[in-house]
Amino acid sequence: MRKKIVAGNWKMNKNLQDGMALAKELNEVLTAEKPNCTVIIGTPFIHLAKVSDIIDHKLIGLSAENCADKASGAFTGEVSAEMVKSTGAEYVILGHSERREYYHETYDILKEKVLLALANGLKVIFCIGESLEEREKGIQNQVVKAELEGSVFNLSAEEFANITIAYEPIWAIGTGKTATADQAEEIHAYIRSVIADKYGKQVAEDTSILYGGSCKASNAPELFSKVDIDGGLIGGASLKVADFKGIIDAWKK
Ligand code: PGA
Repeated sequence: MRKKIVAGNWKMNKNLQDGMALAKELNEVLTAEKPNCTVIIGTPFIHLAKVSDIIDHKLIGLSAENCADKASGAFTGEVSAEMVKSTGAEYVILGHSERREYYHETYDILKEKVLLALANGLKVIFCIGESLEEREKGIQNQVVKAELEGSVFNLSAEEFANITIAYEPIWAIGTGKTATADQAEEIHAYIRSVIADKYGKQVAEDTSILYGGSCKASNAPELFSKVDIDGGLIGGASLKVADFKGIIDAWKK
């Protein structure tokens, strides 16, 4: 049975003190009322070590939002997968459209990052998704397939078991425009079929595919009710415990 997941992506928000306060509050709330899904928070690098110390890792998984495409050495300002792992984090988000667009992360760069993350024992939340222009041209399926083929389909089936896919249509990220549940389900089912073609039906059935893009407590229940939507990757609504908890609770409906 594949996992149901609600993962937060704080992006470049919260200073260290505010981030720790948010993690602490979430930990308290989930200790008092256990979630019935896997909960993960993705924080900036500088928060990882301290947040790792204050959360109960059985309740909340910890993720970086990026890692370097090199193992170690003279790469000023970069943070390696090994360093991420040494903080106590279990996951890393890779391939976010903001990284692809603003920091020019190509399929090949992402392929290296994924390999280094897995080699260092991190699980990967791998983001894919089309732009508005691509959706309007009707080529969203080709786009997500190319993203998978370009950066993760080189993996063995055993390695691929450590990958969670996050489908995030770029036009829905931070815009308040959510894909409808039917629109999301249609492409999630397609993504699962592409994984099945590559790795077989069982691997595809076991892969969690999250939806991301203006997901909130009000639309999460409908999105999560779809057979191929296994949870969400949450940006804005992960920055307040009440909002994030509302999405986590969608799995109780
Ligand atoms: P959003 O971001 O929930 O703020 O739209 C989602 C994401 O980019 O992961």
